[in-house]
Amino acid sequence: MLQSIHSTLAYAVLAVLVLAVINAFLGLSAKRNFTSKDRSISLIALIFSHIQLLVGIVLWVESPIGKAGLSQMSNSAIRLTAMEHPLINIIAIVLITIGWSKHKKEESSNGKFKKIGIFYTLGLLLILSRIPWTNWMA
Ligand code: HEM
Repeated sequence: MLQSIHSTLAYAVLAVLVLAVINAFLGLSAKRNFTSKDRSISLIALIFSHIQLLVGIVLWVESPIGKAGLSQMSNSAIRLTAMEHPLINIIAIVLITIGWSKHKKEESSNGKFKKIGIFYTLGLLLILSRIPWTNWMA
């Protein structure tokens, strides 16, 4: 059940992160004000990523190709789900969280869009780089 929650939530996490990144860069290029709508989009992306992180941690402990897979590092598919995917995703979510807290300290709308845009993009790219695509799409 956890695997299916993690697998389905992944679509939502990626969708809201892409939306938050596009919204931040559009806001930046249009030089418009950072409104409560922009805040909500960024906050939803942050919350979804954190929920996915919690589900992922429990899944890692429970799944046979999570923690248990650490003893089979010579198998690249197992190494991906057991180590690379969790580790890189944790770093990605830390970056997204840093972006969120840095945007709050910015006074200008331009600064807020920039912090969300840069940190969320870095997080998104890291997440995309270590998704177990073959398992997911199977
Ligand atoms: C935003 C962050 C994340 C996204 C988008 C994501 C996405 C995914 C996707 C799409 C799969 C493949 C699911 C399938 O085979 O149907 C997967 C598998 C997995 N993820 Fe994540 N994940 C994230 C974070 C994490 C974190 C932080 C951990 C652990 C600390 C984790 C642990 C796992 C494990 C152990 C599996 C393999 C589960 C199994 O097949 O038994 N994930 N993840």
